[in-house]
Amino acid sequence: MRLSERTRAQIESPIAVTYELLEHRRNGRELLDLAQAAPQYPPAPEVAGHIAAVSRSADGADYTEIAGLAKLREAFAAELSGAYRGRVHADQVVITAGCNQAFGLAVSALAEPGDEIVLALPYYFNHDMWLRMNGMVPRYLEPGPDLVPDAEVAKSLITPRTRAIALVSPGNPTGVTLTPLQLAGFLAVARQHDIALVLDETYRSFRDTDEPPHDLFSDPQWPDTLVSLHSFSKDLAIPGYRVGAVVASTAVGREVMKLLDCVAICAPRIGQEAAWAGLVRAAGWRAARAAELADKRAWLAAAMAGRPGGFELLSIGGFFGWVRHPFAGRGIGDVVRDLAVAHDILVIPGTAFLPDDRAMFRISVSNIGRAGIDDFAQRLAAAGQDSRTLNR
Ligand SMILES: Cc1ncc(COP(=O)(O)O)c(C=O)c1O
Repeated sequence: MRLSERTRAQIESPIAVTYELLEHRRNGRELLDLAQAAPQYPPAPEVAGHIAAVSRSADGADYTEIAGLAKLREAFAAELSGAYRGRVHADQVVITAGCNQAFGLAVSALAEPGDEIVLALPYYFNHDMWLRMNGMVPRYLEPGPDLVPDAEVAKSLITPRTRAIALVSPGNPTGVTLTPLQLAGFLAVARQHDIALVLDETYRSFRDTDEPPHDLFSDPQWPDTLVSLHSFSKDLAIPGYRVGAVVASTAVGREVMKLLDCVAICAPRIGQEAAWAGLVRAAGWRAARAAELADKRAWLAAAMAGRPGGFELLSIGGFFGWVRHPFAGRGIGDVVRDLAVAHDILVIPGTAFLPDDRAMFRISVSNIGRAGIDDFAQRLAAAGQDSRTLNR
């Protein structure tokens, strides 16, 4: 049996590879796990109660329509229309088994092997992996020094083979959150070139403002260009229920549904019910969780302000901070391993999100509380100290 070269050539899941480092830890000390970004609390009681009831109902385990439960599509369209002060119709929503699937299906609906996708650096690793495994060519968009990608630079990367510009805002791994104006700039470039703007909005609820993330949905022509991707995993603390959405024109939606039918038939019904209950019944719970995460971001920014051990927090937002280490000449793999083995801190190396080593790593603020954040800063200070000793 031979394996697909394109698939074989791709990296393993960086999350799994990072967790393997734990086998080499020497201390019995508590681990500070800043690697995976997953809510560390159960879903809202309203959600748990609803799915318990659904699980006992006659059709609780059935397939749903390919596009998802009508009541969920309607509730989500209404939520987006309100939160973005725009116009999204239920038939512009296709529910998927998570946002990773939303990205994969949307891109496969838009592009073919050999086509190019402009992908902002640092990328969310599964986006890059999906494109490459499907023979599509990522064209990397270097951000500015503030880590913000620029629409004009994106424009310079567009060729006759380009099918989309793909962005994540708030970003993973940087947390950088693009302004409505910056996003409007990207939409304008995409529109001018008749390509799609694929915008992953997984972390939209975790921003430091209640203002809409962008005003693209208020443009009646948005379906001609925008493909907006969503996740219920973080928002509702249901990552294992696998629910997300593609919000796009009905023309894109139709193609996405063909693909969805083949890979999953539909998103899990129980997950869709959970998402519906979360949207219509758990608004207060969601706001409280988002406020807790905002506190954590503030604590982390404060703890890192003095650059403990020489580690510099370059950006923060959503679930993430993006950190530069101080050890010139040391590979990031070595630094991350040392942090795990000697300092009991687990982070994801920047090379999971970049085609090269820029001495950076990602931390997720979701997994630790205030005491853990202070401890993290102290351990970084110690790591900086250790390494200086070693280098002498
Ligand atoms: C930017 C981004 N997109 C998509 C996903 C996957 O989300 P889901 O659990 O909805 O598939 C993640 C999860 O970490 C993410 O960070």
